[in-house]
Amino acid sequence: MMNNIVTYLADFHTGDKSDLFHQDRPITKTDEILLNETLIPRFINEFWTSSQRQSHSLHEISYRACFKAELPRFFINQLTKYGDLVYDPFMGRGTTLLEAALLGREVAGNDINPLSRILIEPRINPPPLAEIHRRLQEIPWNLDLKPELDLSMFYSPATERMIVSLKEYLLSRKEENTEDYIDKWIRMVATNRLTGHSSGFFSVYTLPPNQAVSPEAQIKINEKRKQVPTDRDVPAIIEKKSIRLQKDLTVAQAKNLQHLSARSRYFCQDAQISVTLEDETVALVVTSPPFLDTVQYAADNWLRCWFNHIDAQEFGRHITMSRTIEEWSYVMKNVFIELKRLLKPGGWIAFEVGEVRNRTVMLDEVIAPIGISVGLECCGIVINQQEFTKTANCWGIKNNQLGTNTNRIVLFQKV
Ligand SMILES: C[S@@+](CC[C@H](N)C(=O)[O-])C[C@H]1O[C@@H](n2cnc3c(N)ncnc32)[C@H](O)[C@@H]1O
Repeated sequence: MMNNIVTYLADFHTGDKSDLFHQDRPITKTDEILLNETLIPRFINEFWTSSQRQSHSLHEISYRACFKAELPRFFINQLTKYGDLVYDPFMGRGTTLLEAALLGREVAGNDINPLSRILIEPRINPPPLAEIHRRLQEIPWNLDLKPELDLSMFYSPATERMIVSLKEYLLSRKEENTEDYIDKWIRMVATNRLTGHSSGFFSVYTLPPNQAVSPEAQIKINEKRKQVPTDRDVPAIIEKKSIRLQKDLTVAQAKNLQHLSARSRYFCQDAQISVTLEDETVALVVTSPPFLDTVQYAADNWLRCWFNHIDAQEFGRHITMSRTIEEWSYVMKNVFIELKRLLKPGGWIAFEVGEVRNRTVMLDEVIAPIGISVGLECCGIVINQQEFTKTANCWGIKNNQLGTNTNRIVLFQKV
Protein backbone atom coordinates (compact mmCIF):
# COMPACT_ATOMS: atom_id res chain seq x y z
CA MET A 1 0.00 0.00 0.00
CA MET A 2 1.24 3.49 -0.78
CA ASN A 3 1.31 5.45 2.45
CA ASN A 4 1.49 8.82 0.81
CA ILE A 5 -1.08 9.71 -1.80
CA VAL A 6 0.89 12.76 -2.92
CA THR A 7 3.80 10.55 -3.97
CA TYR A 8 1.29 8.27 -5.49
CA LEU A 9 -0.36 10.98 -7.53
CA ALA A 10 2.99 12.46 -8.47
CA ASP A 11 4.23 9.03 -9.60
CA PHE A 12 1.16 8.73 -11.69
CA HIS A 13 1.74 12.15 -13.15
CA THR A 14 5.24 11.15 -14.22
CA GLY A 15 4.01 8.05 -15.89
CA ASP A 16 4.39 5.38 -13.19
CA LYS A 17 0.84 4.16 -13.54
CA SER A 18 -0.81 1.76 -11.16
CA ASP A 19 -3.58 -0.76 -11.56
CA LEU A 20 -5.87 1.36 -9.50
CA PHE A 21 -5.91 4.09 -12.07
CA HIS A 22 -7.35 4.11 -15.51
CA GLN A 23 -4.55 2.86 -17.71
CA ASP A 24 -5.90 4.43 -20.85
CA ARG A 25 -6.65 7.91 -19.58
CA PRO A 26 -3.71 10.26 -19.04
CA ILE A 27 -4.02 13.12 -16.58
CA THR A 28 -5.93 15.78 -18.46
CA LYS A 29 -4.38 18.64 -16.56
CA THR A 30 -2.29 19.09 -13.44
CA ASP A 31 -1.48 22.48 -12.11
CA GLU A 32 -1.04 24.50 -8.96
CA ILE A 33 -3.25 27.12 -7.47
CA LEU A 34 -2.20 29.94 -5.15
CA LEU A 35 -4.58 30.17 -2.21
CA ASN A 36 -3.79 32.55 0.66
CA GLU A 37 -0.11 32.57 -0.28
CA THR A 38 0.12 28.75 -0.37
CA LEU A 39 0.68 26.88 -3.63
CA ILE A 40 -1.64 23.87 -3.71
CA PRO A 41 -1.15 21.15 -6.35
CA ARG A 42 -4.20 20.02 -8.30
CA PHE A 43 -4.57 16.55 -9.77
CA ILE A 44 -7.21 16.19 -12.42
CA ASN A 45 -8.12 12.85 -13.90
CA GLU A 46 -10.69 10.11 -14.07
CA PHE A 47 -9.30 8.45 -10.95
CA TRP A 48 -12.38 6.29 -10.49
CA THR A 49 -15.48 5.47 -12.51
CA SER A 50 -18.61 3.50 -11.83
CA SER A 51 -17.66 0.97 -14.50
CA GLN A 52 -14.25 0.38 -12.94
CA ARG A 53 -15.90 -1.85 -10.37
CA GLN A 54 -19.57 -1.69 -9.58
CA SER A 55 -20.51 -0.69 -6.04
CA HIS A 56 -21.57 -3.37 -3.59
CA SER A 57 -25.33 -3.95 -3.67
CA LEU A 58 -25.63 -2.92 -0.01
CA HIS A 59 -25.00 0.68 -1.10
CA GLU A 60 -28.13 0.82 -3.22
CA ILE A 61 -30.35 3.11 -1.22
CA SER A 62 -30.91 6.73 -2.12
CA TYR A 63 -30.17 9.90 -0.20
CA ARG A 64 -29.87 13.52 -1.29
CA ALA A 65 -26.38 14.48 -2.50
CA CYS A 66 -24.80 11.15 -1.62
CA PHE A 67 -21.50 10.30 -3.26
CA LYS A 68 -20.73 7.06 -5.04
CA ALA A 69 -18.88 4.33 -3.17
CA GLU A 70 -15.91 4.63 -5.55
CA LEU A 71 -14.98 7.96 -3.98
CA PRO A 72 -14.42 6.77 -0.39
CA ARG A 73 -13.03 3.45 -1.70
CA PHE A 74 -10.24 5.26 -3.54
CA PHE A 75 -9.03 7.06 -0.41
CA ILE A 76 -9.63 4.14 1.99
CA ASN A 77 -7.54 1.85 -0.22
CA GLN A 78 -4.72 4.38 -0.61
CA LEU A 79 -4.51 5.77 2.88
CA THR A 80 -5.57 3.18 5.43
CA LYS A 81 -4.94 -0.41 6.37
CA TYR A 82 -7.13 -3.19 7.70
CA GLY A 83 -8.47 -2.34 11.18
CA ASP A 84 -7.86 1.45 10.96
CA LEU A 85 -10.69 3.73 12.09
CA VAL A 86 -12.48 5.67 9.31
CA TYR A 87 -14.86 8.51 10.27
CA ASP A 88 -17.46 10.65 8.47
CA PRO A 89 -18.88 13.68 10.33
CA PHE A 90 -21.60 14.24 7.66
CA MET A 91 -22.39 10.61 6.91
CA GLY A 92 -25.76 10.92 5.08
CA ARG A 93 -26.74 7.44 3.89
CA GLY A 94 -23.37 6.22 5.21
CA THR A 95 -21.45 5.58 1.98
CA THR A 96 -18.05 6.09 3.64
CA LEU A 97 -18.90 3.89 6.61
CA LEU A 98 -20.30 1.02 4.56
CA GLU A 99 -17.42 1.03 2.08
CA ALA A 100 -14.86 1.20 4.91
CA ALA A 101 -16.57 -1.66 6.76
CA LEU A 102 -16.65 -3.77 3.59
CA LEU A 103 -12.89 -3.18 3.34
CA GLY A 104 -12.40 -4.34 6.93
CA ARG A 105 -11.89 -0.93 8.53
CA GLU A 106 -13.49 0.11 11.83
CA VAL A 107 -16.08 2.84 11.38
CA ALA A 108 -17.69 5.80 13.12
CA GLY A 109 -20.06 8.40 11.74
CA ASN A 110 -22.17 11.39 12.57
CA ASP A 111 -25.04 13.30 10.99
CA ILE A 112 -27.46 15.82 12.41
CA ASN A 113 -30.23 14.05 10.50
CA PRO A 114 -31.56 11.18 12.68
CA LEU A 115 -32.48 9.28 9.50
CA SER A 116 -28.79 8.74 8.80
CA ARG A 117 -28.26 6.16 11.52
CA ILE A 118 -31.53 4.47 10.54
CA LEU A 119 -30.18 4.12 7.00
CA ILE A 120 -26.63 2.95 7.73
CA GLU A 121 -26.62 0.89 10.92
CA PRO A 122 -28.64 -2.08 9.56
CA ARG A 123 -26.51 -2.28 6.39
CA ILE A 124 -23.40 -2.71 8.53
CA ASN A 125 -25.22 -5.51 10.37
CA PRO A 126 -27.48 -7.19 7.78
CA PRO A 127 -29.67 -10.02 9.11
CA PRO A 128 -30.03 -13.28 7.17
CA LEU A 129 -32.77 -13.16 4.53
CA ALA A 130 -34.59 -16.10 6.14
CA GLU A 131 -34.94 -14.15 9.38
CA ILE A 132 -36.25 -11.10 7.54
CA HIS A 133 -38.79 -13.32 5.79
CA ARG A 134 -39.91 -14.83 9.11
CA ARG A 135 -40.29 -11.45 10.80
CA LEU A 136 -42.29 -10.06 7.87
CA GLN A 137 -44.76 -12.92 8.40
CA GLU A 138 -45.13 -12.05 12.09
CA ILE A 139 -45.88 -8.33 11.75
CA PRO A 140 -49.57 -7.42 12.21
CA TRP A 141 -50.21 -5.68 8.86
CA ASN A 142 -53.90 -4.87 9.20
CA LEU A 143 -54.25 -2.72 12.29
CA ASP A 144 -57.31 -0.48 12.16
CA LEU A 145 -55.33 2.77 12.22
CA LYS A 146 -55.34 5.97 10.17
CA PRO A 147 -52.34 8.25 9.72
CA GLU A 148 -52.62 11.60 11.47
CA LEU A 149 -52.23 13.32 8.10
CA ASP A 150 -53.82 12.77 4.69
CA LEU A 151 -51.57 10.53 2.57
CA SER A 152 -54.26 9.39 0.14
CA MET A 153 -52.48 11.14 -2.76
CA PHE A 154 -49.54 8.71 -2.29
CA TYR A 155 -51.16 5.46 -1.13
CA SER A 156 -54.31 3.40 -1.65
CA PRO A 157 -56.29 2.81 1.60
CA ALA A 158 -55.03 -0.81 1.84
CA THR A 159 -51.39 0.18 1.30
CA GLU A 160 -51.75 3.04 3.76
CA ARG A 161 -53.10 0.63 6.40
CA MET A 162 -50.06 -1.63 5.97
CA ILE A 163 -47.61 1.27 6.22
CA VAL A 164 -49.28 2.64 9.36
CA SER A 165 -49.40 -0.86 10.88
CA LEU A 166 -45.66 -1.26 10.27
CA LYS A 167 -44.95 2.19 11.64
CA GLU A 168 -46.82 1.37 14.86
CA TYR A 169 -45.26 -2.10 15.13
CA LEU A 170 -41.76 -0.60 14.87
CA LEU A 171 -42.60 2.11 17.40
CA SER A 172 -43.92 -0.41 19.91
CA ARG A 173 -40.80 -2.56 19.52
CA LYS A 174 -38.68 0.48 20.25
CA GLU A 175 -40.75 1.59 23.23
CA GLU A 176 -40.73 -1.93 24.69
CA ASN A 177 -36.98 -2.14 24.13
CA THR A 178 -37.39 -5.21 21.99
CA GLU A 179 -36.28 -3.67 18.69
CA ASP A 180 -33.58 -5.94 17.25
CA TYR A 181 -31.40 -5.93 14.16
CA ILE A 182 -34.16 -7.49 12.04
CA ASP A 183 -36.62 -4.71 12.96
CA LYS A 184 -33.92 -2.14 12.20
CA TRP A 185 -33.32 -3.71 8.78
CA ILE A 186 -37.05 -3.69 7.98
CA ARG A 187 -37.29 -0.07 9.13
CA MET A 188 -34.38 0.87 6.85
CA VAL A 189 -35.83 -0.84 3.79
CA ALA A 190 -39.36 0.48 4.39
CA THR A 191 -37.99 4.02 4.84
CA ASN A 192 -36.46 3.65 1.41
CA ARG A 193 -39.53 2.26 -0.27
CA LEU A 194 -42.02 4.91 0.93
CA THR A 195 -42.13 6.85 -2.31
CA GLY A 196 -40.59 6.40 -5.72
CA HIS A 197 -41.06 6.17 -9.42
CA SER A 198 -41.78 2.46 -9.99
CA SER A 199 -43.91 -0.38 -8.67
CA GLY A 200 -41.00 -1.33 -6.42
CA PHE A 201 -42.14 1.46 -4.07
CA PHE A 202 -45.22 1.70 -1.85
CA SER A 203 -46.50 4.90 -3.50
CA VAL A 204 -48.08 5.84 -6.78
CA TYR A 205 -45.56 7.28 -9.32
CA THR A 206 -43.75 10.27 -7.85
CA LEU A 207 -40.23 11.74 -7.66
CA PRO A 208 -37.28 9.41 -6.90
CA PRO A 209 -37.24 8.20 -3.28
CA ASN A 210 -34.71 10.64 -1.86
CA GLN A 211 -37.02 13.59 -2.44
CA ALA A 212 -40.60 13.36 -1.20
CA VAL A 213 -42.84 16.01 -2.73
CA SER A 214 -45.50 17.80 -0.70
CA PRO A 215 -49.06 16.37 -0.68
CA GLU A 216 -50.17 19.37 -2.79
CA ALA A 217 -47.48 18.71 -5.41
CA GLN A 218 -48.40 15.01 -5.49
CA ILE A 219 -52.06 15.85 -6.15
CA LYS A 220 -50.88 17.86 -9.18
CA ILE A 221 -48.66 14.97 -10.38
CA ASN A 222 -51.65 12.60 -10.08
CA GLU A 223 -53.90 14.98 -12.04
CA LYS A 224 -51.32 15.47 -14.77
CA ARG A 225 -50.63 11.76 -15.13
CA LYS A 226 -54.30 10.83 -14.62
CA GLN A 227 -53.25 8.30 -11.98
CA VAL A 228 -54.65 7.05 -8.68
CA PRO A 229 -52.67 5.08 -6.10
CA THR A 230 -53.17 1.31 -6.46
CA ASP A 231 -52.67 -1.42 -3.85
CA ARG A 232 -49.07 -2.42 -3.15
CA ASP A 233 -47.92 -5.50 -1.26
CA VAL A 234 -45.75 -3.81 1.38
CA PRO A 235 -44.09 -6.92 2.93
CA ALA A 236 -43.39 -8.37 -0.54
CA ILE A 237 -41.72 -5.11 -1.63
CA ILE A 238 -39.60 -5.10 1.54
CA GLU A 239 -38.53 -8.69 0.99
CA LYS A 240 -37.68 -8.12 -2.67
CA LYS A 241 -35.57 -5.07 -1.89
CA SER A 242 -33.83 -6.95 0.94
CA ILE A 243 -32.83 -9.67 -1.51
CA ARG A 244 -31.52 -7.05 -3.95
CA LEU A 245 -29.56 -5.23 -1.26
CA GLN A 246 -27.89 -8.44 -0.12
CA LYS A 247 -27.25 -9.74 -3.65
CA ASP A 248 -23.45 -9.22 -3.45
CA LEU A 249 -23.04 -10.10 0.22
CA THR A 250 -20.76 -13.09 0.71
CA VAL A 251 -20.74 -15.26 3.83
CA ALA A 252 -17.27 -13.99 4.71
CA GLN A 253 -18.38 -10.34 4.31
CA ALA A 254 -21.46 -10.91 6.45
CA LYS A 255 -19.31 -12.39 9.21
CA ASN A 256 -16.80 -9.56 9.00
CA LEU A 257 -19.51 -6.90 9.05
CA GLN A 258 -21.15 -8.49 12.07
CA HIS A 259 -17.84 -8.32 13.92
CA LEU A 260 -17.28 -4.66 12.93
CA SER A 261 -20.85 -3.58 13.64
CA ALA A 262 -20.43 -4.42 17.32
CA ARG A 263 -17.62 -1.84 17.45
CA SER A 264 -19.05 0.83 15.12
CA ARG A 265 -20.19 4.13 16.58
CA TYR A 266 -22.89 6.54 15.42
CA PHE A 267 -23.59 10.09 16.55
CA CYS A 268 -26.42 12.47 15.78
CA GLN A 269 -25.25 16.00 16.46
CA ASP A 270 -23.85 19.15 14.92
CA ALA A 271 -20.47 18.26 13.39
CA GLN A 272 -19.02 21.38 15.02
CA ILE A 273 -19.39 19.80 18.46
CA SER A 274 -17.02 17.17 19.83
CA VAL A 275 -18.22 13.58 19.51
CA THR A 276 -17.33 11.01 22.16
CA LEU A 277 -14.42 9.56 20.22
CA GLU A 278 -10.98 9.75 21.77
CA ASP A 279 -8.32 12.17 20.56
CA GLU A 280 -5.97 10.95 17.81
CA THR A 281 -7.80 7.72 17.00
CA VAL A 282 -9.00 8.31 13.43
CA ALA A 283 -6.79 7.31 10.48
CA LEU A 284 -8.97 8.81 7.73
CA VAL A 285 -11.99 11.06 7.32
CA VAL A 286 -13.83 10.88 4.00
CA THR A 287 -16.71 13.30 3.98
CA SER A 288 -18.89 15.73 2.09
CA PRO A 289 -20.59 18.60 3.97
CA PRO A 290 -23.73 20.47 2.89
CA PHE A 291 -22.80 22.82 0.05
CA LEU A 292 -24.15 26.10 1.49
CA ASP A 293 -27.97 25.91 1.30
CA THR A 294 -28.34 23.98 -1.97
CA VAL A 295 -30.19 20.91 -0.57
CA GLN A 296 -33.26 20.98 1.66
CA TYR A 297 -32.43 17.89 3.74
CA ALA A 298 -35.33 18.33 6.19
CA ALA A 299 -38.05 19.17 3.64
CA ASP A 300 -37.00 16.43 1.21
CA ASN A 301 -37.18 13.85 3.99
CA TRP A 302 -40.54 14.85 5.54
CA LEU A 303 -42.28 11.56 4.75
CA ARG A 304 -39.34 9.42 5.88
CA CYS A 305 -39.35 11.46 9.11
CA TRP A 306 -43.11 10.93 9.56
CA PHE A 307 -42.68 7.16 9.19
CA ASN A 308 -39.88 7.15 11.78
CA HIS A 309 -41.56 9.52 14.29
CA ILE A 310 -38.88 12.16 13.73
CA ASP A 311 -39.61 15.87 13.96
CA ALA A 312 -38.22 17.10 10.60
CA GLN A 313 -38.63 20.75 11.56
CA GLU A 314 -36.65 20.24 14.74
CA PHE A 315 -33.55 18.75 13.09
CA GLY A 316 -34.05 21.09 10.14
CA ARG A 317 -33.37 23.98 12.50
CA HIS A 318 -29.89 22.62 13.28
CA ILE A 319 -28.86 21.60 9.81
CA THR A 320 -26.16 23.81 8.26
CA MET A 321 -27.97 25.96 5.67
CA SER A 322 -25.47 28.75 5.08
CA ARG A 323 -26.57 31.55 2.82
CA THR A 324 -23.12 33.09 2.57
CA ILE A 325 -19.60 31.75 2.07
CA GLU A 326 -18.59 33.52 5.29
CA GLU A 327 -21.28 31.71 7.35
CA TRP A 328 -20.33 28.38 5.78
CA SER A 329 -16.60 28.99 6.34
CA TYR A 330 -17.23 29.71 10.03
CA VAL A 331 -19.03 26.36 10.48
CA MET A 332 -16.43 24.44 8.47
CA LYS A 333 -13.57 25.90 10.52
CA ASN A 334 -15.19 24.54 13.69
CA VAL A 335 -15.64 21.17 11.99
CA PHE A 336 -11.93 21.10 11.06
CA ILE A 337 -10.89 21.92 14.63
CA GLU A 338 -12.83 18.83 15.78
CA LEU A 339 -11.46 16.66 12.96
CA LYS A 340 -7.91 17.68 13.78
CA ARG A 341 -8.52 16.59 17.37
CA LEU A 342 -9.72 13.18 16.18
CA LEU A 343 -6.96 12.51 13.63
CA LYS A 344 -3.94 10.42 14.50
CA PRO A 345 -0.63 12.10 13.65
CA GLY A 346 -0.19 11.30 9.97
CA GLY A 347 -3.96 10.85 9.56
CA TRP A 348 -5.84 12.14 6.52
CA ILE A 349 -8.98 14.07 5.57
CA ALA A 350 -10.52 13.76 2.09
CA PHE A 351 -13.07 16.56 2.04
CA GLU A 352 -15.39 16.54 -0.97
CA VAL A 353 -16.98 19.82 -1.97
CA GLY A 354 -18.62 21.16 -5.08
CA GLU A 355 -19.14 24.12 -7.29
CA VAL A 356 -21.93 26.49 -6.23
CA ARG A 357 -23.60 29.67 -7.45
CA ASN A 358 -23.73 28.55 -11.08
CA ARG A 359 -20.16 27.34 -10.91
CA THR A 360 -18.80 30.75 -9.98
CA VAL A 361 -17.63 29.57 -6.55
CA MET A 362 -15.38 26.52 -6.20
CA LEU A 363 -15.75 25.41 -2.61
CA ASP A 364 -12.41 23.52 -2.77
CA GLU A 365 -10.68 26.88 -3.07
CA VAL A 366 -12.57 28.07 0.02
CA ILE A 367 -11.96 24.95 2.10
CA ALA A 368 -8.20 24.55 1.47
CA PRO A 369 -7.23 27.74 3.38
CA ILE A 370 -9.66 26.85 6.20
CA GLY A 371 -7.97 23.50 6.80
CA ILE A 372 -4.56 25.16 6.66
CA SER A 373 -5.69 27.79 9.17
CA VAL A 374 -6.31 25.10 11.83
CA GLY A 375 -2.84 23.63 11.30
CA LEU A 376 -3.47 20.87 8.78
CA GLU A 377 -1.28 20.37 5.75
CA CYS A 378 -3.16 20.70 2.46
CA CYS A 379 -1.64 18.04 0.20
CA GLY A 380 -3.61 18.86 -2.87
CA ILE A 381 -6.93 19.07 -4.63
CA VAL A 382 -8.00 15.87 -6.35
CA ILE A 383 -10.48 16.52 -9.13
CA ASN A 384 -12.13 13.40 -10.46
CA GLN A 385 -13.66 13.96 -13.86
CA GLN A 386 -15.86 11.08 -14.76
CA GLU A 387 -17.76 10.67 -17.94
CA PHE A 388 -21.45 11.27 -17.53
CA THR A 389 -23.38 8.06 -16.79
CA LYS A 390 -27.07 7.37 -17.01
CA THR A 391 -27.23 6.24 -13.39
CA ALA A 392 -25.50 9.34 -12.15
CA ASN A 393 -28.01 11.47 -14.00
CA CYS A 394 -31.00 9.52 -12.77
CA TRP A 395 -30.05 9.77 -9.10
CA GLY A 396 -29.27 13.45 -9.17
CA ILE A 397 -25.56 13.17 -8.50
CA LYS A 398 -23.85 16.46 -9.15
CA ASN A 399 -23.37 16.32 -12.90
CA ASN A 400 -22.08 19.26 -14.84
CA GLN A 401 -23.50 20.34 -18.17
CA LEU A 402 -20.63 19.06 -20.28
CA GLY A 403 -21.53 15.42 -19.77
CA THR A 404 -19.04 14.80 -16.99
CA ASN A 405 -19.54 14.22 -13.31
CA THR A 406 -16.94 16.12 -11.30
CA ASN A 407 -15.91 15.51 -7.70
CA ARG A 408 -13.52 17.98 -6.06
CA ILE A 409 -11.73 16.59 -3.03
CA VAL A 410 -9.37 18.59 -0.87
CA LEU A 411 -6.83 16.34 0.78
CA PHE A 412 -5.33 17.24 4.16
CA GLN A 413 -2.91 15.51 6.47
CA LYS A 414 -2.20 16.03 10.16
CA VAL A 415 1.57 16.26 10.30
C1 LIG B 1 -23.69 15.99 1.21
S1 LIG B 1 -24.58 15.15 2.45
C2 LIG B 1 -23.54 13.80 2.83
C3 LIG B 1 -23.84 12.63 1.94
C4 LIG B 1 -22.95 11.43 2.22
N1 LIG B 1 -21.59 11.64 1.76
C5 LIG B 1 -23.55 10.19 1.52
O1 LIG B 1 -22.86 9.58 0.68
O2 LIG B 1 -24.72 9.91 1.79
C6 LIG B 1 -24.37 16.22 3.83
C7 LIG B 1 -24.97 15.71 5.14
O3 LIG B 1 -24.66 16.65 6.16
C8 LIG B 1 -25.69 16.62 7.12
N2 LIG B 1 -25.56 17.87 7.91
C9 LIG B 1 -25.93 19.12 7.55
N3 LIG B 1 -25.55 20.00 8.50
C10 LIG B 1 -24.91 19.28 9.47
C11 LIG B 1 -24.25 19.62 10.67
N4 LIG B 1 -24.16 20.89 11.07
N5 LIG B 1 -23.72 18.64 11.41
C12 LIG B 1 -23.79 17.34 11.01
N6 LIG B 1 -24.41 16.96 9.88
C13 LIG B 1 -24.95 17.91 9.10
C14 LIG B 1 -26.95 16.48 6.30
O4 LIG B 1 -28.00 15.93 7.06
C15 LIG B 1 -26.48 15.55 5.17
O5 LIG B 1 -26.80 14.22 5.49
